[in-house]
Amino acid sequence: MKLNIAVLAGDGIGPEVIDQAIKVVNAIGKKYNHEINFTHALTGAAAIDAVGNPYPDETHEVCMQADAVLFGAIGHPRFDNDPSAKVRPEQGLLGMRKKLGLYANIRPTLVFPSLLHKSPLRRELIENADFVCIRELTGGIYFGDKGRSEDRTKAWDVCEYTTEEVERIIRLAFTYAQNRRKKLCIVDKANVLETSRLWREVGQRLEKEYTDVTVEYLFVDAAAMRIIQWPEGFDVMVTENMFGDILTDEASVISGSMGLMPSASIGIHTSVFEPIHGSYPQAAGKNIANPIGTILSAAMMFEYAFKLNDEAAEIRNIVDKSLAEGVVTIDIAGSDKAYSTSEVGDWIAAQIN
Ligand code: IPM
Ligand code: MN
Repeated sequence: MKLNIAVLAGDGIGPEVIDQAIKVVNAIGKKYNHEINFTHALTGAAAIDAVGNPYPDETHEVCMQADAVLFGAIGHPRFDNDPSAKVRPEQGLLGMRKKLGLYANIRPTLVFPSLLHKSPLRRELIENADFVCIRELTGGIYFGDKGRSEDRTKAWDVCEYTTEEVERIIRLAFTYAQNRRKKLCIVDKANVLETSRLWREVGQRLEKEYTDVTVEYLFVDAAAMRIIQWPEGFDVMVTENMFGDILTDEASVISGSMGLMPSASIGIHTSVFEPIHGSYPQAAGKNIANPIGTILSAAMMFEYAFKLNDEAAEIRNIVDKSLAEGVVTIDIAGSDKAYSTSEVGDWIAAQIN
C-alpha cells in the first residue's frame, strides 16, 4: 500500500518521540511492503516562531492531502506564564482539530501486565481494567464564546452543544461499544448543566436503537471516583470535551506512566494520531522522554486509518515485549537501568524484521 503520512512533530519532546515512531513505521513499511512517504509540517510554538501562526495554512494543506497525521506535542512554557499572549501554541492544536473536523478523540486506558507494579493503584484493582474513553473534541467550552468585560474584572467561557454534535459522537460510541464488551457509560453533569441534559436526552433516544448495548449514565464527579475505585467496571465511556480531557489524564496514570498512552482523533477529514501527553519542556532535548505513547499512536494509525491490523498488532506485541524485557525510559525504569528515547525506538524498530 502507498501511505502518505503528515508529520507534525511540534514542540518540546515532540520531535524526539516522533523520530522513534518514524523508525517503527519505516520498519513496518519495509517488512510489509508499504511505500511510506512522510511530509513534515510546522505547528505549535515552532510555527509561531517561524511564521507567527501555530497552525499555518500550509500545514493544514499538508494534513488535508495526507492519508493520516502523526502528531507529537505542542506547548511552550514561555506562553504558559504569559496570560496576555495573543497567539498560543495550543490554538494550533485546537485549530487543527476544528479545521480537520476531528470530533472524536479515542483514548484507550491500557494496562500492561509487566507494569502492574508501577501503577499507583493496587494490582487487584487494575489487572482487568481495559476501557476506552471517547472524548468529544470539537465542541463544548473549548470552542464556545470567551471573553472579558471592558473593565477586565469578569470573564466567561460558554459551553455549547447542538443535538447534531452530541448525536454523532454518541452514535460513534455506541458502535464502538458494539465491537467490544457492549457496555457504554455516558458521563455528564446533568444535575447542573443544560448541555449535559441535552447529552442525556440524546443518549436516552439513541439507546432504543442500540438495544444490544447496556447503557449507564454517570455524573462526571462520580466517574472520576469510579476510575480509581473500580476501573474494570468500564468498557466504553463517552463524554464532552473538557470532562474527557480531565478524565483521560486521570485514567492515563493507571498504566504506570502517562507517556505510554496513545490516542486517535477521527472525524470528517484526515485522522490524527498522537500521544496523550504534552510537550514536557523540562525533558526536551535530553533524550529521556518515553516514546511508547507515540509508537502506540502509530499502531492506532495502522488500525484506524489504513485498516492494517496485522501491522498494528505487531507494533503492540513488540511494545509489550520491550516493557517485559525492561527496555524502558526513566519514567518507568525507577532504580533499574533506564534506556534513552532513541534506544527504545531503535530496539523496537530492530525487532520488526
Ligand atoms: C490534550 C491537551 C490539550 C487539550 C491542550 C494542549 C490544549 O491537554 O490533548 O488533552 O486540552 O485538549
Ligand atoms: Mn489533556
